[in-house]
Amino acid sequence: MSANSFPPKKPVLTGWSSQAVHGGHRQDPMYAHLVPIYASSTFVFDNAEQGMRRFSGQEEGYIYGRWGNPTFTEAEEKIAGLETFGLDMEVKGILHASGMAAISTLLLSTLRPGDKVLSHFSLYGGTDGFLTQLLPQLGIDAVITDLRDLDNAEDCMKKDPAIKMLYLETPANPTIQCVDLESLTALARHYNLITACDNTFATPYLQQPFKYGTDYVVHSTTKFLNGHGTAIGGILLGKDMEKMQTVQTKTHRLLGGNANPFDAFLLIQGMKTLELRMDRHCRNAMDVANFLNSHSAVAHVNYTGLPNHPDYEVAAKQMRHPGAMLSFELKGGLQGGIDFMNKLQMCVRTVSLGTCDTLLSHPASMTHYSVPKAEREKYGITEGLIRMNVGIENVEDIVNDLEQALAGI
Ligand SMILES: Cc1ncc(COP(=O)(O)O)c(C=O)c1O
Repeated sequence: MSANSFPPKKPVLTGWSSQAVHGGHRQDPMYAHLVPIYASSTFVFDNAEQGMRRFSGQEEGYIYGRWGNPTFTEAEEKIAGLETFGLDMEVKGILHASGMAAISTLLLSTLRPGDKVLSHFSLYGGTDGFLTQLLPQLGIDAVITDLRDLDNAEDCMKKDPAIKMLYLETPANPTIQCVDLESLTALARHYNLITACDNTFATPYLQQPFKYGTDYVVHSTTKFLNGHGTAIGGILLGKDMEKMQTVQTKTHRLLGGNANPFDAFLLIQGMKTLELRMDRHCRNAMDVANFLNSHSAVAHVNYTGLPNHPDYEVAAKQMRHPGAMLSFELKGGLQGGIDFMNKLQMCVRTVSLGTCDTLLSHPASMTHYSVPKAEREKYGITEGLIRMNVGIENVEDIVNDLEQALAGI
């Protein structure tokens, strides 16, 4: 037998992008360079005995597309490798149809009637709806409070033994507020709570919640992980391998929020440039924040990279860079916001985030138009607030577009 017929040795990858490019990849049996899009709803058995061994778990292998698929596996192992890069631990990932599907599997597999989940008041709207509208129908309640106040967080955990989970999202959508992962996870451990963190805004390149002992991490892969706005997706990752193989796998299979192979393929290709994209996103965001900060039409800039941001220190402690998201308040109020949005030429008017192009939204006239003014202002969504995903274009072009759109506002 020639030396070439042995499976090649797995290389030791010392760099973050090397892991992002090669992590999770296996040699395809047909020698395709990239993982193929395994567009097959089911997988065949050589014989009945093999089917029996696969169903009983004695033999690894694919069975049915809702349960797993080789294209999903590459994405799952790549993200698991990035979330634990440089850490001496292993986690398992389960790819889902969307971020909300991954969050549903997490919450429904870990909470029982009578349990409560503790979370911060700034959360992605879908997650907030799941916690405050859907879970109560199953006898599970949410305690939503200000988790930036650690005494308040501990008070809640101490006072209410029904609280079984601490659910964090940092930086949070839409306010970009950050909570202290290390201190909150330590408190939760002390009070025996399960901990979970939505790492969508940061990505594993900027922040690794598992480093602080978090039990579960979720992502909307729709955003920076995919990076190009080409597919909806999500992932649930957990460090208890046994539970992930049993409890979470079973819930995922029963809920049916499986990914699809084409979207998994797009995600894998997008993730290969994550480090390059995030470095550029963050550098541009810092330059844009400084430009806006000195503009006379802007009342206030909300970016965790600016030392006047209340969460500047927490972000600096737990994130490599402060991220690509910022918001700013126009002095011109609602009409100023509308006029500014209408004048944009290169930057794009839309609501998502995590793509290569710069995206802006005006919550008061768009996402939060139907929320009464007093209600939305309670959450910091003021009339002239503009939310921005700073893209990877050449920053001069982003600044030029903002400058011409701000003229006369
Ligand atoms: C922080 C965060 N988590 C979860 C989600 C839900 O993800 P998806 O839209 O992929 O279901 C979003 C969507 O915007 C989000 O911003």
